[in-house]
Amino acid sequence: MNWNEIYETAKAWTLEAGEILRNATKETVKVEYKTSAADLVTQKDKEIEQFFIDRIATNYPEHFLLGEEGLASDQEYDPNQEIVWIVDPIDGTTNFVHQKRNFAISVGIYEFGNPKIGFVYDPVADELFHAQVGQGAYLNNQLLPRLPQKTLEEANISINQLWLVPNRYVDYTIFTSMIQKARGTRYIGSAALEIAYVASGRLDTYIDFRLSSWDIAGGMVILGEVDGLMKTVDDKDIDVFSPGITYFSNKHVLDEVYQNVNKK
Ligand code: IPD
Ligand code: CA
Ligand code: CA
Ligand code: CA
Repeated sequence: MNWNEIYETAKAWTLEAGEILRNATKETVKVEYKTSAADLVTQKDKEIEQFFIDRIATNYPEHFLLGEEGLASDQEYDPNQEIVWIVDPIDGTTNFVHQKRNFAISVGIYEFGNPKIGFVYDPVADELFHAQVGQGAYLNNQLLPRLPQKTLEEANISINQLWLVPNRYVDYTIFTSMIQKARGTRYIGSAALEIAYVASGRLDTYIDFRLSSWDIAGGMVILGEVDGLMKTVDDKDIDVFSPGITYFSNKHVLDEVYQNVNKK
């Protein structure tokens, strides 16, 4: 398998798809509800997913695609036996619709369940976070350094405000102490960007509970290359195919986060 060639090809496609979305921010886009008024999809989500499906079918017919919008015709495969492109055509659709910024295309390429290549592209900021396993992570042409030593007092924590009010996933009061000790809290609304921001030091920990493979597949490759930690709430490594309750973090901050999250 020529991974360098796949990397360069996937990078070119991601940038090309990003240009479509950047142009779309100047147009009127058709918006539909999926499961509720808080769950949007646009024709651009579908167009970008189809863009990747068509190119993969032509260039790598033996590869599979797992995408949020589920448009790929052949969904019957075992991700642990195949090469799979895990694509979120627009991560942060609500931001795409409301803000026309703070959204990303996320692409993770996995071979037999193992991470190989990751892209998270913010087309409005023209920031491409990218990594090939074992070769470091980059923001555009700049190599991202390993994440620095930090304490919770110096940390910026990203958490969806839904987890700070009564919810069906977790006892929300467990976060109070951690939030009080952290330097700041942020929530961007694009999981892929939040993971990429942890990798680039803009955030230090990102916590979320109902993510899917396509939200995290690209970012996990990037964060892995700067020595980031990706753990479930019970301290297991995150399985990209069934994420659960997830912490993406600077490893120096995570212990302190855990200590404070367990305190009520
Ligand atoms: C969503 C965003 C959001 C996260 C949700 C995701 P989408 O993805 O990443 O930040 O909190 O869980 O579903 O639907 O905009 O691709
Ligand atoms: Ca969605
Ligand atoms: Ca998503
Ligand atoms: Ca999406």
